[in-house]
Amino acid sequence: MSRAVCPGSFDPVTHGHLDVIDRTSRLVDEVVVAVGNNMAKNALFSPQERMDMLREATTDRPNVTVTLFDGLLVDFCTARGAEVISKGLRAADFDYELQMAQMNRRLSGVDTVFLPTGAEWAYVSSSLVREIAGLGGDITPFVPASVADRISRRLAERSRDGGRKIRDL
Ligand code: PNS
Repeated sequence: MSRAVCPGSFDPVTHGHLDVIDRTSRLVDEVVVAVGNNMAKNALFSPQERMDMLREATTDRPNVTVTLFDGLLVDFCTARGAEVISKGLRAADFDYELQMAQMNRRLSGVDTVFLPTGAEWAYVSSSLVREIAGLGGDITPFVPASVADRISRRLAERSRDGGRKIRDL
């Protein structure tokens, strides 16, 4: 049985990520989407929320599972019996992704395959989605509708909480 890991922060998942997960699921028997269990300072969503959004967005893919991971990605891959890491590649990602792929292979023998990001999503990233949403722009073309809803609710919560903090001073 062939098994691939699609790792990432997914804060939040975008159509670009989902395209890569979907294409990977046609190439191997099983795909494990691995959400980094790290809480970056400027994260919009907790690891659990990011995992929930991915699960909602991949329910129609029976060979895709979603889980959190801690520590080294290659240790997670070895523990899960995954022989390959699958990642989408945009032009700007190349140097960093190549370095990580070579290091991961050196550490463990686990290889990485790169799928060229779908041309229609080549300019989409989670960080741009967060920035555009935070500044009131329309992000509905770039993320599933349920994710766009969650982003709106999260930003509304934050602006309420921010307002409260300022009022409480
Ligand atoms: O979506 P991102 O932020 O590009 O995902 C990065 C991620 C989670 C895939 C990467 O940071 C990672 O693999 N982290 C696990 C720690 C690790 O294995 N580091 C060594 C990399 S050579």
